[in-house]
Parts: sequence; structure tokens; C-alpha cells
Amino acid sequence: MRIGFIGGTGSEGIGLAGRFAIKNIEVGIGSRDIKNSIDAVNKIAKNISSSKNLFPGLNMEVVRDSDIVFVCVPYDAQKSVFKELKPYLIGKIVVTVVVPVMFENGKISVVRTKSSCAAIELQEILVESKVVSAFQTISALDLKLINNPVNSDVIVCSDNKYALNTVMDLAENIDGVRAINGGKLSNSVFVENITPLLLNINMIYKKHTAIRITGI
Ligand SMILES: NC(=O)c1ccc[n+]([C@@H]2O[C@H](COP(=O)([O-])OP(=O)(O)OC[C@H]3O[C@@H](n4cnc5c(N)ncnc54)[C@H](OP(=O)(O)O)[C@@H]3O)[C@@H](O)[C@H]2O)c1
Repeated sequence: MRIGFIGGTGSEGIGLAGRFAIKNIEVGIGSRDIKNSIDAVNKIAKNISSSKNLFPGLNMEVVRDSDIVFVCVPYDAQKSVFKELKPYLIGKIVVTVVVPVMFENGKISVVRTKSSCAAIELQEILVESKVVSAFQTISALDLKLINNPVNSDVIVCSDNKYALNTVMDLAENIDGVRAINGGKLSNSVFVENITPLLLNINMIYKKHTAIRITGI
């Protein structure tokens, strides 16, 4: 199985890709620029001391060669990037980690979205793909500390049961992660809104926070 990361050259893509590659899962690192992709592959290889499961490529090539595709671009790029990639994603599982937030002058603000949910907007574009929402509450900084367990739950939402179960199993490859079934894709709106709260708490406490659901 190969997982492809679109926008895999950013912090979150690099962090997640490293966590899967170290567990012997092949990962493709997608970019608009092959040089960026090769640089990101080299960074990940250095962090995990191996390059054997890492494959650079343009976004389109990575989508073509992957069984599961992660969306790791900023919210405002999602629509244009995935309109272009849509024909290559028919029938595939597409995992979105996108949070509609912006950082400006050290302040976090929530980006106004058409339907208030980035994952639902993605599913509206990729009507023939199985969109799954997950990982929004895990910080890239924590993911990159490859020798530390992440120590967090990951809430997974999707309207497709097979895709939801597949991504829950995949998430638990990351040390310290427990996957929680978050139900329908429309529930992603609640998860996407936890992240700005965590970012604000991080600023207050000067720590990296994550979430654990208790009682189950
Ligand atoms: N950073 C975190 O801790 C974190 C945590 C949870 C969720 N997330 C979510 O994960 C996603 C990625 O976060 P990030 O911090 O890694 O983002 P980022 O560094 O801003 O962007 C990731 C990559 O997306 C590509 N990209 C940027 N603008 C683009 C555009 N207009 N069109 C096409 N591609 C574009 C770039 O790749 P190329 O230039 O190489 O093509 C870039 O390296 C975001 O949606 C964010 O909300 C992030």
C-alpha cells in the first residue's frame, strides 16, 4: 500500500509521512515543484534515518501512484488543487487534515468557509471519492519528534464505513495514537473547530496540546 501526500512538503505532511514511513508504509511526497518534493523527502529521511519508503513526485504523479491520498494543503488552496486532481481520485480514499485557519501577525483566525466545514466542501468537489476527515488535532511539531509517542486521540469522520475503518487502522500505526470513530463526515466541523482552540491554549501555556476522549 502507498499513501500519497498532496502538499506533502509542508510541516503537517512531512510530520505524518515520517510517522507512516517509519512503520514500513510507502509514502509519496507530492508538490507543485519536484525540487520541493525531493527536499522534503531528504528532510524526512534524515529524521527517520531511512529513505527506503519515501517517493518524491509532482502532486499529480503522487495521486496516480497512491492507494490513499492525504490532503495537506492550506484551506484556501483546497478547491483549486482538488478540482484539477479530481479525475485521478475516483474511487480512492482521500484523507483531509485541513483546518480552515489563518495566522496573521501572531494571531489565529478562523477562515470563513462556504459550508463551515472544509471536509464537506472537499467531498462536494470529489463526489466520486471516499473523503475521510482526521488528524486535524495533531500538531506537526509533535509528529516530527519521531522518537516520542504522539499521545493523542485522532477523531475520524466519514460517510463511507470502509474508508472510515481503513483510516482508523492506519492512524493507529502512529505510536501513541488511538483512533476514535467520530461518525459522519459532517461531524468534521466540530473537529476542525477544536484545532483553533488548541492553538490558543498552546499560546497561553507555551506547550503543544492534543486531545484525549475519556469514557470509552
Ligand atoms: N501545521 C500543523 O501543525 C497542522 C496541524 C493540523 C492540521 N494542519 C492542516 O494541514 C494542512 C497543511 O498544513 P501545513 O502547516 O503543512 O501547511 P503549509 O506548510 O502552509 O502548506 C503545505 C503545502 O501546501 C502546498 N501549497 C501551499 N499553498 C498552495 C497553493 N496555493 N496551491 C497548491 N499547493 C499549495 C505547498 O507545497 P508545494 O509548494 O511544495 O506545492 C506547501 O508546502 C493545512 O490545511 C492545515 O490546516 C496543520
